[in-house]
Amino acid sequence: MKALITGGSGFIGAQLARLLAAAGHSSVILDLQPPPPDLAGDPDTYAFVRASVTNLPVMIDTLRAHQADTVFHLGGMLSMPCERDPWSAFEVNVAGTYHLMEAARLSGVERLVLSSSIAVYGEDLPEGPIHDHSLQRPASMYGTSKVFGELLGRFYARRFGLDFRGLRIPSVVGPGSKVPHMSIYNCWAIERPLLGQPYEILVEPETRCPTIYYKDASRALMELALAPVSRIKTKVYNINGFSPAYSAAELAEAVEEKVPGARLEFKPDQEITSLIQAIGSRELDDGHARREWGWAPGYDLPGMIDDFRSELARLGQA
Ligand SMILES: NC(=O)c1ccc[n+]([C@@H]2O[C@H](COP(=O)([O-])OP(=O)(O)OC[C@H]3O[C@@H](n4cnc5c(N)ncnc54)[C@H](O)[C@@H]3O)[C@@H](O)[C@H]2O)c1
Repeated sequence: MKALITGGSGFIGAQLARLLAAAGHSSVILDLQPPPPDLAGDPDTYAFVRASVTNLPVMIDTLRAHQADTVFHLGGMLSMPCERDPWSAFEVNVAGTYHLMEAARLSGVERLVLSSSIAVYGEDLPEGPIHDHSLQRPASMYGTSKVFGELLGRFYARRFGLDFRGLRIPSVVGPGSKVPHMSIYNCWAIERPLLGQPYEILVEPETRCPTIYYKDASRALMELALAPVSRIKTKVYNINGFSPAYSAAELAEAVEEKVPGARLEFKPDQEITSLIQAIGSRELDDGHARREWGWAPGYDLPGMIDDFRSELARLGQA
């Protein structure tokens, strides 16, 4: 595969580039910021193009010059920046996704994999587990932009024959996540104690939030892209890392067990707690991903904390 990864310098995108390289695939990273140092060395494996997804001509040129056959679309703004600045979120997440799909169409790209989110769910969810076909009625700008990307991808598949696939990813846990978002406590409640720093968790201890380890999330993106087209029926899939989701109290306990002297405290913010609980209290059903292309998460909670520790050391941050 010759991949182009928008947002390839980011938290999940950089890990996806590493994973693709390990499997023998080369990547072009298209991002506003340069990739981490370990992705900067070998131009045959990782090329870097500093550009915005809002720039249609540059994306067409890049896709043509590198003859990319598969696009992974991860570049854009996360939940809290979108909420603070919905005007830029429209330009980047909505218009940028449209420009990317146009660039893919005009450059003859075969396949586009969208990094969507469980933030597509929101209001008026019926009782019971959240399925791929559950009502998508997000209240947030971020979720709205993701619903747009999913629907536009389906349109490009129908109208132009693009092999469009997408993942609705829950909150991603891993080292080095810098951009705050509502469920960032899932990362920082592990990272800060490993760095010897105190941390306040801003949700009630019993809050549950669907999460996935970043290595599982990036592997899911790669496996979805590599699945034979005949297996892809649902097109956009929920994936889940931990079923049932662990509570914030269970997370804190597991960290305290693995990191003696961890200083974690709860300082619940009622708004954040209730927004997360609205989805977190439900089971996230990823059965279609499991049945259609064999999705299975690889980490349990203690295993994730152990791997987090060694990854943090590898990144030179601990
Ligand atoms: N982190 C999570 O918990 C989570 C959960 C579900 C879905 N996602 C989705 O996964 C994708 C990657 O998320 P992440 O956690 O790695 O975020 P991140 O912020 O670490 O990475 C996003 C990357 O996009 C780049 N970017 C921003 N604006 C851009 C633009 N105009 N043009 C090109 N690049 C631009 C940023 O520089 C950054 O490197 C996003 O689409 C996000 O919505 C993330």
